[in-house]
Amino acid sequence: MTIRWKYLIILIVLLPLLGLGFAWSGLMGVRASTGHWAATDWFLHWVMKNSVRTAALSVDVPSLDDPALVPAAAGHFESGCAICHGSPAQGRSDAVLAMLPPPPDLKEKVPSWSDAQLFEIVKHGVRFTGMPAWPTQMRDDEVWAMVAFLRKLPQMDANAYFQASGLHGIGHAGEVSPLPITCESCHADKKLNNGSIIPRLAGQSEAYLLNSLKAYAAKQRPSGIMEVAVGTLPEEGLPELAKYYAGQKLPLRPAQPSVDPTLVAKGQELAEKGRPADKVPACLSCHEKPGGNPAYPRISGQNTAYIARQLHLFQTGVRGGSQFNHLMTEAAKNLKEEDITALATFFAGRESVGP
Ligand code: HEC
Ligand code: HEC
Ligand code: HEC
Repeated sequence: MTIRWKYLIILIVLLPLLGLGFAWSGLMGVRASTGHWAATDWFLHWVMKNSVRTAALSVDVPSLDDPALVPAAAGHFESGCAICHGSPAQGRSDAVLAMLPPPPDLKEKVPSWSDAQLFEIVKHGVRFTGMPAWPTQMRDDEVWAMVAFLRKLPQMDANAYFQASGLHGIGHAGEVSPLPITCESCHADKKLNNGSIIPRLAGQSEAYLLNSLKAYAAKQRPSGIMEVAVGTLPEEGLPELAKYYAGQKLPLRPAQPSVDPTLVAKGQELAEKGRPADKVPACLSCHEKPGGNPAYPRISGQNTAYIARQLHLFQTGVRGGSQFNHLMTEAAKNLKEEDITALATFFAGRESVGP
């Protein structure tokens, strides 16, 4: 009996050493050219599926019905994901198809995953496969927008995809000649409305636009979408873009009959006077104040949904921004949910008065 135990212990010590010896010998193949054995392929994907399934159990899924989630994610998909996964506007290159494992066509794969599982994969990526994590781990709202888009992807024809992602160049005879995603693919004013989570840039202060672009590039304002959009631009190009958008005229939106006037009045009261009892400052003591700091942004005329989303980000401390960012984090701290709705509604319908 004791002798058997002895052998067992020797075996337990020896096995890992043998494994190490085999790895050291150089006989273990790492060539991607020969692919995985079918069993290895199956095993790796099985491990990945199990891991995603377990991690997704603790994920709470928000409502993904808002149509405004799709355009921001679609543009990002074309510039950040399609190079590997392909899209209605671009195929996968031979180099990409030679990856091990090759990135799959998502139109086919998406239906086999739940929303929570897609969230897990897109947020964290998949180790040892080339599937990257979302550029920032702080913006779950952006990852959810991507999940909302992926859900729609299998039903999208090329035209719907071009519309959503803001690719230009839909030819006359159904011919497709895509140009790469540009700032206008997402920010073109005609694509936006009060429900949009992409901001209007026209007429915004130049100093603020430049600070924002620099903050995205330096990862001081977390956004996977904008990080990728400015990632390939040289820093010298940023002032020109800030100047261009600051110089655009902000077209006024027609007044919205559906807006509740008591909500607007409540927003106006807060914006002008604040609520000292709750330490809520008057927004207009900083924003759009004649002769005020040009690095403080214009809020009037901005989209309702974008304003509300940014206020939520300030409240949770993840908004980031320029060196003045802490002022706004402080200002947003004591806002209640109904304050945010009222302020966003008021500012979206207000005509800007400067600086
Ligand atoms: C550098 C190439 C690359 C890029 C860029 C990339 N992926 Fe992937 N992706 C992969 C690979 C490889 C897999 C396969 C992983 C596996 O099978 O375990 C994968 C798997 C996935 C899956 C799971 C599909 C399945 O059933 O295996 C989803 C969903 C996905 N990617 C979404 C995205 C999204 C969204 C983006 C952009 C934000 C993106 N990917 C960017 C390479 C990439
Ligand atoms: C794929 C869509 C997409 C593309 C392409 C894109 N943006 Fe954006 N942009 C967004 C979204 C979404 C936000 C909001 C991000 C956030 O929550 O901080 C944003 C925010 C911004 C802001 C901050 C505005 C504010 O009011 O704080 C600026 C400035 C900006 N973008 C400029 C640009 C420029 C310049 C380009 C081209 C180089 C560009 N964007 C390309 C989607 C895009
Ligand atoms: C003490 C000055 C100050 C006060 C008071 C203030 N803000 Fe701000 N706010 C700022 C600054 C500075 C920024 C820009 C932060 C950055 O990105 O650098 C900002 C940014 C914002 C943004 C983001 C704009 C965009 O385009 O992304 C919104 C929305 C906003 N403020 C709304 C409000 C509202 C609503 C109030 C009133 C409750 C308010 N602010 C009060 C200084 C202030």
